[in-house]
Amino acid sequence: MKIGFIGAGNMASAIVEGMIQNGFSQPEDLYLYDISTEKVQAFAKKVGAHVSTDPQEVIQTVDALILAVKPNVIKGVLLEAKEAILQNNPLIVSIAAGTSTETIYEVFETDQPIRIVRVMPNMNAMVGEGAAAVCGNAAATKEDVSLIIDLFNAVGKAWPLEEKYFSIFTAIAGSSPAYAFLFIDSIARAAVKNGLPKDLALEMATQAILGSAETLAHSKENPWTLIDRVSSPGGTTVAGIVELEDNAFISTVIKGIDATIRKDEELGKK
Ligand SMILES: NC(=O)c1ccc[n+]([C@@H]2O[C@H](COP(=O)([O-])OP(=O)(O)OC[C@H]3O[C@@H](n4cnc5c(N)ncnc54)[C@H](OP(=O)(O)O)[C@@H]3O)[C@@H](O)[C@H]2O)c1
Repeated sequence: MKIGFIGAGNMASAIVEGMIQNGFSQPEDLYLYDISTEKVQAFAKKVGAHVSTDPQEVIQTVDALILAVKPNVIKGVLLEAKEAILQNNPLIVSIAAGTSTETIYEVFETDQPIRIVRVMPNMNAMVGEGAAAVCGNAAATKEDVSLIIDLFNAVGKAWPLEEKYFSIFTAIAGSSPAYAFLFIDSIARAAVKNGLPKDLALEMATQAILGSAETLAHSKENPWTLIDRVSSPGGTTVAGIVELEDNAFISTVIKGIDATIRKDEELGKK
């Protein structure tokens, strides 16, 4: 299957590298176009994919077209590509945050069904540990959605998810890496306050959180059981947990996630 990318920045590069490494695609089946010609040429050369200076050429060649440009330029890209897409009918895949399948379909001003799959990836795709939600519009088939889930499984984990839940997914997987970085940095900062150098503290805190996520992912138990296991009676961990909860740790996190969901819904309406 031939797959094309319009936009070959951070996300597209991570996805392309994952697809090749994992064997999902052969480099010669991948077609890249980016407005920054030099950058895309260098990347295509590195991975062995085709590069094109004309997006129409990519659309005419591929079975699936991944739109990996920023949300503020996606409408313009679609308007330019509209005629070629209507003629060649590739599966349209958008990874643009906050851009619904309906918004994409409306650009075509047609009654002709267009198969559109929307994906919300996250930045951890860059290390092969991404989390992605995938949904299709009414015209997209189950096979279309499954294909794109398989593709994103090449750079982490992907789940089918109804589009109405995408704002929630954006908060818990799209934005949450930033919250995890904030948490890790706060732990390291506390270590600095107590006398450790920042670089060392950051490395240690990162490893502790990485291992905790791995432990949880491999455990069949819920987080509170694991918390209880680390909390010895009268010990250090429970003292810390009580202090965090005195300062409303859980409800502060929930409020942060709520604010993210509200913002995504607000931006999606614009
Ligand atoms: N990065 C993330 O963590 C993340 C997470 C979830 C979803 N997403 C979504 O993924 C999409 C891509 O994000 P990204 O981080 O990969 O952005 P990015 O690194 O800026 O990549 C976008 C690429 O598209 C190019 N471009 C701009 N206008 C174009 C046009 N008209 N035709 C072709 N190429 C064009 C850009 O070139 P210039 O740099 O020269 O403008 C850039 O190389 C966004 O819609 C974003 O919402 C990203």
